[in-house]
Amino acid sequence: MQIVQTERLSLHHATLDDAAFIYDLLTDQTFIDNIADKGVRNLDDARAYINESLIKSYNTHGFGLFLTKLKSDGTPIGLCGLIKRDVFDYPDVGYAFLPQYAGQGYATEAAKGAMTYGRDELGIKRIIAITSPDNKGSIKVLEKLGLHTNKTIDFMDSENLLFEPD
Ligand SMILES: CC(C)(COP(=O)(O)OP(=O)(O)OC[C@H]1O[C@@H](n2cnc3c(N)ncnc32)[C@H](O)[C@@H]1OP(=O)(O)O)[C@@H](O)C(=O)NCCC(=O)NCCS
Repeated sequence: MQIVQTERLSLHHATLDDAAFIYDLLTDQTFIDNIADKGVRNLDDARAYINESLIKSYNTHGFGLFLTKLKSDGTPIGLCGLIKRDVFDYPDVGYAFLPQYAGQGYATEAAKGAMTYGRDELGIKRIIAITSPDNKGSIKVLEKLGLHTNKTIDFMDSENLLFEPD
């Protein structure tokens, strides 16, 4: 199911058929270093992640991390969307792309699309973000999205920057 379209990208609900791509993304070192090791070691693990994390969020909150594809040829390049965590009052925007697609503005474009969808279609009043202070690329994306940081928070056992709208 397609949720969002931007100039170059389309964002979809992930399905179990996307396990091979999810395996590639979650086992990439940039994902593990900058987000987390989700324990995905094979296609069955990838299917479990899709089911228990991605699809569960769509069903529970009506949104989540969406499979992000190039509109030109349908190639999946990453995940982008909104996450509702118990520890925060507001959803946060999240994204991860395969390294071969970095540096082309895709994260900014996808995240803008997801945030506009959240505000306009879902009525979400406030969208925040968190990132490691070492993740210069992600910080740049969040600044381009118009979010600002002046707070650090403990999140998943490390210090993170909290980005918020004005
Ligand atoms: C971080 C990430 C999402 C950036 O995606 P992207 O598609 O390259 O982002 P964009 O092209 O929209 O913008 C990135 C900007 O950061 C800059 N950038 C990227 N890496 C950088 C670095 N190490 N240091 C400084 N700037 C950097 C780019 O030059 C670009 O700036 P520009 O628009 O002025 O040229 C991507 O590298 C990724 O998926 N990383 C792994 C997962 C991850 O870290 N997710 C975020 C967790 S909070």
